[in-house]
Amino acid sequence: MSIVEKAGANVLKTNFSKKGKKKKEKGKSAERTELDIAKEPETVAVDYKALSANGFFDPADKSSQLALELRAVKRRLLRRIGYLRASGERQAFRTSGKQRNIILVTSTRAGEGKTFTASNLALSLALEDNIETLLIDGDLARPKVRERFGLPAAPGLADCMLDKNLDPETLGWRLKNTTMRILSEGARTERPTDLFNTADSQRFWNDLATADPSRLIIVDAPPVLATTEAVILAKYANEILFVVEANSTPESAVAAAIDELIDVNPNVSIMLNRCQIGAGGAHYGAYEYYGRESGDENPEAEQASTKD
Ligand SMILES: Nc1ncnc2c1ncn2[C@@H]1O[C@H](COP(=O)(O)OP(=O)(O)O)[C@@H](O)[C@H]1O
Ligand SMILES: [Mg+2]
Repeated sequence: MSIVEKAGANVLKTNFSKKGKKKKEKGKSAERTELDIAKEPETVAVDYKALSANGFFDPADKSSQLALELRAVKRRLLRRIGYLRASGERQAFRTSGKQRNIILVTSTRAGEGKTFTASNLALSLALEDNIETLLIDGDLARPKVRERFGLPAAPGLADCMLDKNLDPETLGWRLKNTTMRILSEGARTERPTDLFNTADSQRFWNDLATADPSRLIIVDAPPVLATTEAVILAKYANEILFVVEANSTPESAVAAAIDELIDVNPNVSIMLNRCQIGAGGAHYGAYEYYGRESGDENPEAEQASTKD
């Protein structure tokens, strides 16, 4: 069975829909028809106990070290994408028609905390800040989001890349009592790079960003040095969170990976993961903007992504 047939077979088992004939007006998700709403993703309960047993964010414990660190990371990120003004006031993730709502989480190698960071960030934004978040598993070779959240295999990102008529808004899961959705990796593919490096892929990310301009899309990406997918995905993203495992990843490898990213998207911020500060230790030790300095926390003028 070909990969496309497999994806099709998969797709038939769950709730999905083809994109309607009626062309969706950009940025007007409120105008979804009743039929569309009937095809909303399934709602699932989150097992926070299982997540926190794996060191994940526990919404019940707002004063934990991780909760405090995530809050600092979120604030910085929201300011960079222009959502939070210095005054703390909120605004949509776009200014004059430009979305800045796709955040790519990547790193140099596997196992440095990309999935941990992307998942925690999405959960924390959705629960604490009540911001609509869509977490996408973009690591097609080593997808881990479903496993972390205890979700079954289902059509997801790869299926959308294989079939441009699939509507991603109807796939995945909505997490109960949160404003968060998950779109998993979907069908297994032999050559993920080929899937992402297409005009359809560009269109997919543009449509996703504009479908709901006030939604934050967090993509758990593959590592930069393993394949070329992360660099391709970086073209479609607005902001890149680059995870560095403190005292582990060799500096020269980090520099090489960041150079590759900055060539396609200068909006790179570094997060030091598993950084030991003081007796208690810390999850995230630093969060520094690395891209070309613009002297501005919201450098939308030098946006490399969706216009390419
Ligand atoms: N700061 C952290 N605190 C606790 N566990 C972590 C932390 N960062 C990563 N982990 C754990 O380390 C393992 C590898 O992290 P993961 O996010 O899956 O890496 P990657 O996605 O980069 O391959 C996972 O079990 C994850 O839960
Ligand atoms: Mg991962």
